[in-house]
Amino acid sequence: MIISDRQQTTKKILGIIASPRKLGNSEIIIKEISRRLPEEHELKLLRLHDFNIEPCRACYKCLFGEEKCVIDDDILQIHAAVSEADALIVAAPTYFLAPNASLKRLLDRGLSFYGLQEKMLGKPAVGIAVAGIKGKEGHTLLGVNNFLKCILADLKYSEVIYSAFPGEAALSDENLTIAQTAADSLFGAKVLPAGPHCPLCGGDSFRFLADNKVQCLLCSNRGTINTSGAISFDIQKDNHELFLSSDVAKEHKEWLKEMKLRFFEELPNLKKSRDLYKGGDFVQPGKK
Ligand SMILES: Cc1cc2nc3c(=O)[nH]c(=O)nc-3n(C[C@H](O)[C@H](O)[C@H](O)COP(=O)(O)O)c2cc1C
Repeated sequence: MIISDRQQTTKKILGIIASPRKLGNSEIIIKEISRRLPEEHELKLLRLHDFNIEPCRACYKCLFGEEKCVIDDDILQIHAAVSEADALIVAAPTYFLAPNASLKRLLDRGLSFYGLQEKMLGKPAVGIAVAGIKGKEGHTLLGVNNFLKCILADLKYSEVIYSAFPGEAALSDENLTIAQTAADSLFGAKVLPAGPHCPLCGGDSFRFLADNKVQCLLCSNRGTINTSGAISFDIQKDNHELFLSSDVAKEHKEWLKEMKLRFFEELPNLKKSRDLYKGGDFVQPGKK
């Protein structure tokens, strides 16, 4: 079979929509970014609400043996869609100052992505947080960035867009400029936040600690804040850092596996401690 140049270079893009709304702003901004992408591509869309994604059971079985999640739901279909993509565009609406729960529900299954590390590492990605009210976007962008970092993607650009009614996303020049930047950066140069940001990961959300110290909420590393002139941060890598490079991701996976041995060593002590908290008057589901 002869494969033409065009077919060979066509990129597969997966747009992950973390909104229940059909033709809502998250879906529209993903399609707008796709329309502006300079690269030849095919856009596949995945609306998280169409899929059955059960909560993580914290069994850690996905880290061992076949490295597959044992829950019988749609996660494997999502793994396949993400693995097959050359790049990701993720958009999530703000619900009560945070990303829609569908994104976190998927991320809670994130340990099962570790079995796909080779396919996942460094996949270019852009993230969009959608908010209805300027200034009321809360930590949605951090949530979107965190999702992409934790699934080991290479975050090229992310931004908040404002639009309340479904369809508004594509009606503002500001949003269209953001869509253009997202499209240009997906396979192009990384675009860092314009304001102060973490020199290690580009995150722009921080926890302010005592003694002029700060912690980046995206990569969890700590450092100092420099307020002479424009604010900047001097952040150092922790000795157990997360998600900054492929080596670190692999080390973290091994560290998680070693935890199993530690768990078995600690089991007698843990049992004693847990036994002290047995029982309780639980509200039962299904009873009115
Ligand atoms: C339950 C709910 C909570 C919301 N909370 C916020 C909020 O905290 N801040 C905000 O700016 N917009 C909030 N919004 C507005 C949505 O973020 C906004 O309508 C957005 O365009 C929805 O994107 P979508 O069309 O992709 O679903 C909320 C909307 C809903 C339905």
